Amino acid sequence: MTAKRSVREVLTSPKIGSEVRIEAWVRTKRDSKAGLTFLELNDGSYFQNLQIVVSATLPNYATEIPKLHVGASVRVLGTEAQSQGGKQSVEIQALEVALVGACDPAVYPIGKQKMTYEYLRDFTHLRSRTNTFSAIARVRNVLAMAIHGFFQERGFLWLHTPVITGNDAEGAGQMFRVTTLDVAKPPRAEDGSVDFSQDFFGQGANLTVSGQLEAEAYACSMGAVYTFGPTFRAENSNTSRHLAEFWMVEPEVAFADLDDNARLAEDFLKHLLRTVLEKCPLEMEFFKQRVEPGILDLLNSVLENPFKRLTYTEAVEILIKSGEKFKYKVEWGIDLQSEHERYLTEQVFKAPVILTDYPKGIKAFYMKMNPDGKTVRAMDVLVPGIGEIIGGAQREDDIELLKGRIAEMGLHAGPLDWYLDLRRFGSVPHAGFGLGFERLVQFVTGMGNIRDVIPFPRTPGHIKI
Ligand code: 4AD
Ligand code: MG
Repeated sequence: MTAKRSVREVLTSPKIGSEVRIEAWVRTKRDSKAGLTFLELNDGSYFQNLQIVVSATLPNYATEIPKLHVGASVRVLGTEAQSQGGKQSVEIQALEVALVGACDPAVYPIGKQKMTYEYLRDFTHLRSRTNTFSAIARVRNVLAMAIHGFFQERGFLWLHTPVITGNDAEGAGQMFRVTTLDVAKPPRAEDGSVDFSQDFFGQGANLTVSGQLEAEAYACSMGAVYTFGPTFRAENSNTSRHLAEFWMVEPEVAFADLDDNARLAEDFLKHLLRTVLEKCPLEMEFFKQRVEPGILDLLNSVLENPFKRLTYTEAVEILIKSGEKFKYKVEWGIDLQSEHERYLTEQVFKAPVILTDYPKGIKAFYMKMNPDGKTVRAMDVLVPGIGEIIGGAQREDDIELLKGRIAEMGLHAGPLDWYLDLRRFGSVPHAGFGLGFERLVQFVTGMGNIRDVIPFPRTPGHIKI
């Protein structure tokens, strides 16, 4: 059988004159008066379609070609040829065209007409057949590999942290419970509460909100590690930046402080942007033309300039002095809202901002206390268009201070005893952060809604597939 080549292979390294087999889906079909039909095929490998020229002289032209509609799958045998049209350099002169799976245009929901992102959210299983969603899928793939490339080159170990966990890393309690108990008739303790000691694990269990605590355990023996996997949050946030299931990248480094952490975050983000610009030029040009006109200028300016660093306290002063009317009033101690974060990065600095040293009251128990006793060595990285894209910290490595924080925040010390061991036995200054992968994809593509940058989004009230 003639060798198969992908659309990408044919368009990027043509072999003019050679025979080839293409297996793909019809994106467009056009009949010309000259007894020719032009098919544009796409197989997901490349942004551009491959043009197939079908002559009416083919034996099955009259029977098969009328059955080819947009969305149908086809197998084409043909010859690679220099294209006559201006749009592309190579096309296929068909020798044989076979319909593999028909697609009825009367009921196919993915038409040529402009479909809104909202409309396509009802067809998550079909939307990767459009230019926008196939481009996003390829960018996601390139970013995922760039993440591994960055850390592997620097000697980090990829750590597989559990999805089902017995702890609540962020101490925020917004977790999905994992249980095999009969929810209609769970066993009860004497006080009437559900008796989770009879559950599958002999205790309560949840889906992880972060692999950080487990990553700390391995950083404190392996030196530098990172996790990259799905993360779950049962927060009832119906925003364009929140998902109930998202992917997070969490590096964790021993013998490192907050400065090292901030430098790592900046180098990491820049590496990811550089890689996408280099590997996905057609996708990025498309996002510029169809999604966000300023996207290439933005990414290039982020690459060329150092990130701005300042403390939370300095940021709050800037926000108060700005005179800007915010929906949520700014005062020292508040958790910054997206509008504040975006004002700082988009209006004030016009660059990514790394905010450090947040009030302890709004941050997690594990963050290292500053000598002022009021702030902790936290850092958030804010970027234009998104706001917070990274959250991280230097961790508390002093066991007494850490015990104090656990008690002060009313957390149960028992389940965290293993975590205290990391401070009991060879404690070390260490730091890390979490990058929300979908927020990164939003930032890179300019897509406005996070539901459109993950293949199958889960949000409050929505889990169709
Ligand atoms: O700021 P967060 O909650 O930090 C942590 O989980 C730390 N344990 C990370 C660490 O230090 N290892 O989450 C980190 C990032 C956020 O900055 C955001 O980009 C993303 O994860 N994120 C979400 N993305 C989509 N949907 C959600 N519901 C998200 N919650 C957080
Ligand atoms: Mg955060």
